[in-house]
Amino acid sequence: MALLIRNGDVVNVGSRVQTDIYVENETITRMGPNLQAPPHAEIIDAADKLVFPGFIDPHVHIYLPFMATFAKDTHETGSIAALVGGTTTYIEMCCPSRNDDALEGYQLWKSKAEGHSACDYAFHMSVTKFVAETESQLRKIVADGTASFKIFLAYKNFFGVDDGEMYQTLELAKRLGVIVTAHCENAELVARLQQKLLAEGKIGPEWHEPSRPESVEAEGTGRFATFLENTGATGYVVHLSCEKALQAAGAAKSRGVRMHVESVLPHFLLDKSYAERPGVEGMKHVMSPPLRAKHNQAALWTALEQGSIDTVGTDHCPFDAEQKLLGKDSFVNIPNGIPGIEDRVNLLYTMGVKGGRLDLDRFVDSASTRAAKLFGLFPRKGAIAVGSDADIVVYDTNYRGTISAKTHHVNNDYSGFEGMPVEGRPSVVTVRGKVQVRDGQFVGERGRGKMLKREPTHF
Ligand code: URP
Ligand code: ZN
Ligand code: ZN
Repeated sequence: MALLIRNGDVVNVGSRVQTDIYVENETITRMGPNLQAPPHAEIIDAADKLVFPGFIDPHVHIYLPFMATFAKDTHETGSIAALVGGTTTYIEMCCPSRNDDALEGYQLWKSKAEGHSACDYAFHMSVTKFVAETESQLRKIVADGTASFKIFLAYKNFFGVDDGEMYQTLELAKRLGVIVTAHCENAELVARLQQKLLAEGKIGPEWHEPSRPESVEAEGTGRFATFLENTGATGYVVHLSCEKALQAAGAAKSRGVRMHVESVLPHFLLDKSYAERPGVEGMKHVMSPPLRAKHNQAALWTALEQGSIDTVGTDHCPFDAEQKLLGKDSFVNIPNGIPGIEDRVNLLYTMGVKGGRLDLDRFVDSASTRAAKLFGLFPRKGAIAVGSDADIVVYDTNYRGTISAKTHHVNNDYSGFEGMPVEGRPSVVTVRGKVQVRDGQFVGERGRGKMLKREPTHF
């Protein structure tokens, strides 16, 4: 199938050029002015539109057994929501627990996605324990094309690893050339603070943030950095939420530690007062690291614009109101997570670019290109260039709308961003040359998505 996208303003990192794009067999084959197409080609007029490389969400949870329940999306629902919002590739956290076999877990996560996702996808493989068979299992997983690991310093006894296991994972990752992503909170301190607050009768969602204060995240970030420094591995802090943790990351980077930083949509836009709302309304805004005091948002936006936050993900993790109520008698039982896969690009464009906090270059970099580079997908993904996959977002900057659970495609009964205005949305989204979305509607092929095989790149 041939496709010609005409007259758009094509935005890549470092350039904005009016040019046509011609696509054959899933790939961009020509770019330039006034391209001609054969009669059978599909033609899209992108005049007055911006044209971006397909956006990449580097941190999502689709299949996730967690906190006595399961996240609500399937790859059918999650990928359609992603595409409607302009995300053409996501990287899912493959998260077997400490009690599960890692290789069996990996096969299970793959089976949930294969033939079901409408967009392309890859995995970060969580290392939730380090035992005799771990090295050989991880070697097989890397050989299968999953060239990034995930560790949790939080979630003691479930996903969490101890310092010894973190060391072993990083040391192996260094040898394999694999980047290690990390959830950085001190598990022991979280457990102690949770017990203390509950003993004082503090059981509501407003106590979630005080049980995992900023210093607990800064400690985790700093410790991860120290372990990177002493193993020579390359790391990536996921969902960094606050200024104190940013300072820990900045200090590490300034002494040469190879550490990258992701922050996620909720931390830019929501503050802890959302989780302090009474009852289930507060519970809907419980995630970890928690929503923080409002002053942190300005620090995150500045760091994003300056590039010391590399990427913006979502940590998409939907639990509905009934699931959130598992924590009605104790905040420690509220399933942690906020959905966002559908809203990331539009809200980042609206609040970032239109809001004057982010230039177009950093927008496309942080929401697409940088993740492609860090996770071994570039230049196949993250660029509009001859030879790249034809994952293209034709973006209508004149669209005006409002985020609402009534109209979203995520399989969840609430949106954490309910009522927020958006100024822009994708008018056309393609995955490898096939139109999957038009004007907010999925019109494409279910199950089109492929698992992206990646090579180690961080030696
Ligand atoms: O609250 C969160 N973040 N839920 C998903 C699991 C994780 O920590 O990423
Ligand atoms: Zn996490
Ligand atoms: Zn996560």
